[in-house]
Amino acid sequence: MCKAAERHAMTLKHRMALAAKRIVLGNLNQPQQCNIGIADPQPEIRVWLHGMGAPRDVTFAHSIACASPFTICIGGGVSPGDRTPGEPLALRFREHHDEKRLLAELSLRRTDTLLTKAPALLLFQVESCKNYCLPKGRLWAHYLHLAYVQSRSNSHIRMSTREAHAMIAAFICPRPVVLVSAVSESRNNMFPMNLLGNLGDGYFAFALDSTRLAAPLVADAGTVALSGIPMEHAEVARQLGKNHKRETISWNQLPFATKPSSAFSIPVPCFASRVIEMQIETTHNLGSHTFFVCRVITDERYSDGAQFFMVHGIYQSWRLAKHHEPRVPARRSVPSAPGKGASAARSN
Ligand SMILES: Cc1cc2nc3c(=O)[nH]c(=O)nc-3n(C[C@H](O)[C@H](O)[C@H](O)COP(=O)(O)O)c2cc1C
Repeated sequence: MCKAAERHAMTLKHRMALAAKRIVLGNLNQPQQCNIGIADPQPEIRVWLHGMGAPRDVTFAHSIACASPFTICIGGGVSPGDRTPGEPLALRFREHHDEKRLLAELSLRRTDTLLTKAPALLLFQVESCKNYCLPKGRLWAHYLHLAYVQSRSNSHIRMSTREAHAMIAAFICPRPVVLVSAVSESRNNMFPMNLLGNLGDGYFAFALDSTRLAAPLVADAGTVALSGIPMEHAEVARQLGKNHKRETISWNQLPFATKPSSAFSIPVPCFASRVIEMQIETTHNLGSHTFFVCRVITDERYSDGAQFFMVHGIYQSWRLAKHHEPRVPARRSVPSAPGKGASAARSN
């Protein structure tokens, strides 16, 4: 076949694949991970822990701790002794306003306790996952598409079907994206993260891919600064994803100006809407990710307005349908590694 005919066949194949995808996924065809611009703290979703005494709102007291095995850490003073015998242990994701609809449920199993100088933190793995954002048929079409995308992905993190579905449910709760800055002797780095969360009692935690160079740098640094990102800087922040694989960077090669953080003088973007400085108290290698448990030293807010958050495309479909927003076709759907942004993510 001549080059032109080959190109034509490729374009045709590509078009047919896109058409098939549209038919399977319907009009609400979102990327796996979507950028959204909303207020911080996010006002949309509440996460409830069931089976440990009265239902407890842990929206701002939990963090994804590891992708494989998929692990959630819950703080906020919940203790193993709170377990209600006979009541299923579950995390429920509900809309915060209107009908407070249940959007997903993760059945949990407690696996470990992390001690801190404050109340302990509890780790849970997932037994099963239910997602109510889409009608069953459409949801399974999305799940099948995801399985296909994952089978072709060269990500080094292998998640089971249950773990992949749990990650989708966890990203119903909008996850803030921050830029993490760390300095250790002659090495520096700044990179985006979204597997993180406040755990209450002055504690904060984040999960870093155990195989990337960012993890040992942060462990050596002992302190980090997390910068909130105004939505208009989402793209430049997302592009620093490649820094997870870098040994070190030069501050003056960043595509924006920096200033020193107030307690540790760690360079942070001048555009940061909020800077949280923290000291790492303990690190836990949980599998695909290393979980860093930190004590908050300073927390300063500089500006409000829409902040960079990420949600899963399945929840974004639900959001758009709910708000009857005009449907803008996604430019590209990317196979998303856990804790990673989508390059063609739509924002609103
Ligand atoms: C917006 C965004 C958020 C990310 N969050 C995390 C995270 O929380 N933890 C982590 O280990 N890696 C995180 N990553 C890194 C990615 O998973 C990935 O390792 C990195 O972007 C390199 O991607 P590549 O292997 O496709 O080049 C994030 C990347 C981006 C762009």
